[in-house]
Amino acid sequence: MTGRPLIIDCDPGVDDAIALLLALASPDAFDLLGITTVAGNVPLPLTQYNARRICQLAQRWDVPVFAGCPRPMIYPLLTAKPIHGITGLDGAALPEPSLPLQAQHGVAFLINQLLAAPEPITLACLGPLTNLAIALIQCPDLALGIDQVVIMGGSLGPGNVTPSAEFNCYVDPHAARVVVEAGLNLTCIPLDVTHQVVTTPERRMAFAALGTAVGQATAALLQDYGQRDAERHGLAGSPLHDPCVIAYLLEPALFTGRPMHLAIETESSLCRGRTVATPDLTELTPANATVLETAQADGIYQLLTERLAKL
Ligand code: RIB
Ligand code: CA
Repeated sequence: MTGRPLIIDCDPGVDDAIALLLALASPDAFDLLGITTVAGNVPLPLTQYNARRICQLAQRWDVPVFAGCPRPMIYPLLTAKPIHGITGLDGAALPEPSLPLQAQHGVAFLINQLLAAPEPITLACLGPLTNLAIALIQCPDLALGIDQVVIMGGSLGPGNVTPSAEFNCYVDPHAARVVVEAGLNLTCIPLDVTHQVVTTPERRMAFAALGTAVGQATAALLQDYGQRDAERHGLAGSPLHDPCVIAYLLEPALFTGRPMHLAIETESSLCRGRTVATPDLTELTPANATVLETAQADGIYQLLTERLAKL
């Protein structure tokens, strides 16, 4: 493998699944060390199963899949079944996984990999940040093994779970706060960006036109996914949140952003999980993240379609 060492933490979930396919289609760019799963869009037994089904679909049996935390640090789990369906990947006939679930806990895998890393590892976090937060609490020296963390989460504008909070940060705000305050090389891709990347019928049909099992499955997964999200937010299609993380790692020039101070609200009942971000950097609000602000949707879908055609 010639690519950068990468671990993906996710809660598949339709958009996680497409992000995984993009990464699995890019062995030239990523040495994908493993996939850790967390409870989020659907409970953990389904997120780990779904991650393994996606690896089966991509015929990437070399990538180990781990189950991590089954619930947030403090709050009870809230899922997003209305968006992703009961199974988390409703809409597509996906193969049963031949890939077994790894016995090691996902948090232990993160700690072992990051402590022993011959070169610092990139982390792509696509769900609630429970696994990474627990790993950082258990092993503060972990940050030395991390090159870069790119998360999909937060919102500078309206939320998608409450008026103030985005799902990943709402479900586990305490974990998001641990990660944001850990002094990592952190890039945050909020809803403000992912809502610029929406699946129109034309873009969905381009996946179907690939004429492959992956193309058909992608088009099928996107058929109903997130329609409610699109309607609620007045979008031309369902926002493709998590693939933006992998697209950013592949082609950062498709995005723009600025250094910002990012903080997470954990105490307020009304604003639980709110991401408070400002580019106005002061002694009280020092830079602790790059927060992305724009995305080139056409370029992202072109990248996705070209890469998924390789599977
Ligand atoms: O708010 C969108 C995010 O929450 C995405 O990562 C989606 O998969 C869910 O995890
Ligand atoms: Ca996700």
